Amino acid sequence: MSEVAALVLAAGKGTRMKSGFVKVLHEAAGAPLIDWPVAAAREAGAGRVVLVAGHQADRVQAHFSTDPAVSFALQQEQLGTGHAVACAAGALEGFSGTILILCGDVPLIRPETLQGMLAAHRDLGAALTVLTTHVDNPFGYGRVVKGEGGRILRIVEQKDATPEELKINEINSGIYCVESEFLFAAVASLSNDNAQKEYYLTDIVLRAAEQELLALAFSVDDPDEVMGVNDRAQLAAAGAVLRKRINESLMLSGVTMIAPDTCYIDSGVKIGSDTIIHPNVHVSGNTIIGSECVIEPSVVIRNCTIADKVTLKAGSVMADSVIGEEAAIGPMAHLRPDSQLGAHVKIGNFVETKKIVMGEGSKASHLTYLGDASIGRDVNIGCGTITCNYDGVKKHRTVIGDGVFVGSDVQFVAPITVGANSLIAAGTTVTQDIPPDSLALARVPQVNKVGWVKKKREG
Ligand code: UD1
Ligand code: CA
Repeated sequence: MSEVAALVLAAGKGTRMKSGFVKVLHEAAGAPLIDWPVAAAREAGAGRVVLVAGHQADRVQAHFSTDPAVSFALQQEQLGTGHAVACAAGALEGFSGTILILCGDVPLIRPETLQGMLAAHRDLGAALTVLTTHVDNPFGYGRVVKGEGGRILRIVEQKDATPEELKINEINSGIYCVESEFLFAAVASLSNDNAQKEYYLTDIVLRAAEQELLALAFSVDDPDEVMGVNDRAQLAAAGAVLRKRINESLMLSGVTMIAPDTCYIDSGVKIGSDTIIHPNVHVSGNTIIGSECVIEPSVVIRNCTIADKVTLKAGSVMADSVIGEEAAIGPMAHLRPDSQLGAHVKIGNFVETKKIVMGEGSKASHLTYLGDASIGRDVNIGCGTITCNYDGVKKHRTVIGDGVFVGSDVQFVAPITVGANSLIAAGTTVTQDIPPDSLALARVPQVNKVGWVKKKREG
């Protein structure tokens, strides 16, 4: 089987996005547009990917800087799709095989469709196979003029078409399989003698006919797959299709979603079976959620690792954190980055955490701020507890040993270390370390002035 390389055209600016950022870096379903065709091409078997970049090429290149399988070709001036491919000849020098050409702004193409096209291309011995589809309104697209046996005779652009040709409703998707030797010779021979004065990649169909090589159409049923993103309305429409696919695949793998249309789950998020996701949940980034979890309404999760049987109650927000098995978080808790919570931990309402480690079975059930702290196992943090971690200049740590009981309304003026199994009385401001097994108490003694209010009122 011949090798496959992918060539993704992404030099265009995307004028209709009305944006300071190049179109292909705008996100759909949590990933830049360009990621989708690149991933589809790889899944379909492309071993290497060449991106043709032009507008903001440095930004596009930076996005792939850690990916050794992606290389770049620069198209300084956008002289047309044929010219764009010609610019990639150097980057693919020495490559011999099939080149899968895709557009950076066509994110909905499925890897299975590309695989089907590649298989047909090979089986039928074509030099060029064009992915086409039938649409009700072909306006703006290149029309596919067919001959016998699925052969393509020509592709005519909207602006160059005759009234007869404009009636054709089979359109060019802009996605192709082409044999490398034929491709680079063909694009080198293109002219720009057409309505747009551009070098049209589509004119390679004529070159195939001249050389008596086979140019075929491979038609896809779902026109969504070849939908291009030109403006922000189409960006949202493409995002909705991608999210629907993600949710459907999660549900088919055993995740219950009560109202999938209201949930926004990024590609790459992993969720175990029998986890239940309530309405309005957002899960993004590099997140892994275990099995048998319950995620209540309006929970927002970014870059978290969540073990099995965890309950995330309504309105909780968390980022860059780790949650152990059978822990319960919220409602309305805020886990800020680097909160590492052990198994069976309980974090209740209006509790904020940041940069903490909390051992198995520990609890902070109400109205608390825990920052820059190491908290042992089976610690009870009373309502209204605050780690005073910041002195206005530096952050300091609070270390609380196993089995400590912290009463309500306690402040830890860090740095502070509390020994295991100590008890801190309610209302205490802790300013000194506490040895293990001790009672710490720091309150102004209470004075009752009997009858004082009555006397004041009457006097
Ligand atoms: C192209 C096809 C048309 C097809 C349509 C599908 C040609 C001549 N026409 O038209 O038959 O129906 O796509 O969407 O190919 N690009 C570059 N450099 C350039 C020009 C374009 O990299 O010089 C990139 C764009 O960034 C984009 C893609 O190529 O990703 C398609 O370019 P676009 O200008 O949108 O082509 P269309 O005119 O829509
Ligand atoms: Ca276009």
